[in-house]
Amino acid sequence: MPQPDRPAWIEVNLSAIANNISAVRQFVSPTTQVMAIVKANAYGHGLIPASRAAIKGGASALGVALLQEGVALRSAGITAPVVVLAPTMPEQADSIVVHNLSQTIGHPDAIPPLEAAAKRHNTRARIHLKVDTGMGRLGLLSDEVLAFAKKIDQNPHLFLEGIATHVAWERAEYMDKARHQIKTFSACLSKLTDISVTWRHAANSVMTVHMPESHFDLVRVGLLTYGIPPTQGAGALSLSPALSIKARIAQVRNFSAGQTLSYGGTYTLTRPSRIALVPLGYADGYNRQMSNKSQVLIRGKPCPVVGAICMDVIMIDVTDIPPVAVGEEIVLLGQQGDRKITVNDLAQWGNYISHEVVSLLGARLPRHYIS
Ligand SMILES: Cc1ncc(COP(=O)(O)O)c(C=O)c1O
Repeated sequence: MPQPDRPAWIEVNLSAIANNISAVRQFVSPTTQVMAIVKANAYGHGLIPASRAAIKGGASALGVALLQEGVALRSAGITAPVVVLAPTMPEQADSIVVHNLSQTIGHPDAIPPLEAAAKRHNTRARIHLKVDTGMGRLGLLSDEVLAFAKKIDQNPHLFLEGIATHVAWERAEYMDKARHQIKTFSACLSKLTDISVTWRHAANSVMTVHMPESHFDLVRVGLLTYGIPPTQGAGALSLSPALSIKARIAQVRNFSAGQTLSYGGTYTLTRPSRIALVPLGYADGYNRQMSNKSQVLIRGKPCPVVGAICMDVIMIDVTDIPPVAVGEEIVLLGQQGDRKITVNDLAQWGNYISHEVVSLLGARLPRHYIS
């Protein structure tokens, strides 16, 4: 049941998350493991419940961006390997080590604070060495990796748990560039045969589906975890979308032809119309760029969002469906009857990417978990 204090909410199906991870596991070879990417509040799905569901589905590791996300997982009692994918600050090294988190390193300067923290706590800091094969962001260049990997490998306070790269090219027309990055990474790995590493990893969701040679020991999947097909589709993978956005109609009002709606009068009614007000807006992550473009489902029928999306409300033209009542449930993302609105639909309407659609969903929308 939705929370009584907010007639707009997110519904997360935790079985869908577990099933998606299990589908990815079956899709990759038995020697490849799966890391569920749970940064940004598990792409809006809720860090702790989504992480538990991913582990239940067979994820071997969790990927976060921030120390605070890793600490939250540990505080919730989650003991699975957690890899911090983004750089952290030197003063955060103690916390990384104490919480047994693995840190991605893309620069030699990041090592001394972790080594010192590991010494202080009489343990070894877990390191994933990032190789920049063309992303131009975090990572050592491939000809710097061998010497640096040896140093880590020989250091009693460091444990080289992973070697990773990240691909910059997601669209079909750039797959040759993506393949080139994977070849560069393979060539780099071939020089490291004397060094044992638990996980060599490179693939995000689109690579996992479309480039088997990028799988190595582990795939890092965000979109696939949540049942969102990547840009080029999900191929043979059968995914279940995990997240729906729902709300209740707060008001229904009749307007005459000629009335303009909402800020800036971007929509003018051309006929007498019935307009429903729904209590959710761009402050909840319902992107303002979708104004006059997106649709919602009411009684299983698509109805247009009209006028500028406001901070806390949107307006829907319900003239073409039988009279609706205050309190009636609508679907802004997800399925109602036979009709669906997908993350990719919202991304297209708002001219943003599917990662943004879910990760920008606001904290003030209550999450309601089903399984
Ligand atoms: C380093 C890294 N790996 C994997 C992913 C997962 O990407 P996707 O959601 O496209 O699978 C991300 C997401 O941003 C990332 O930053």
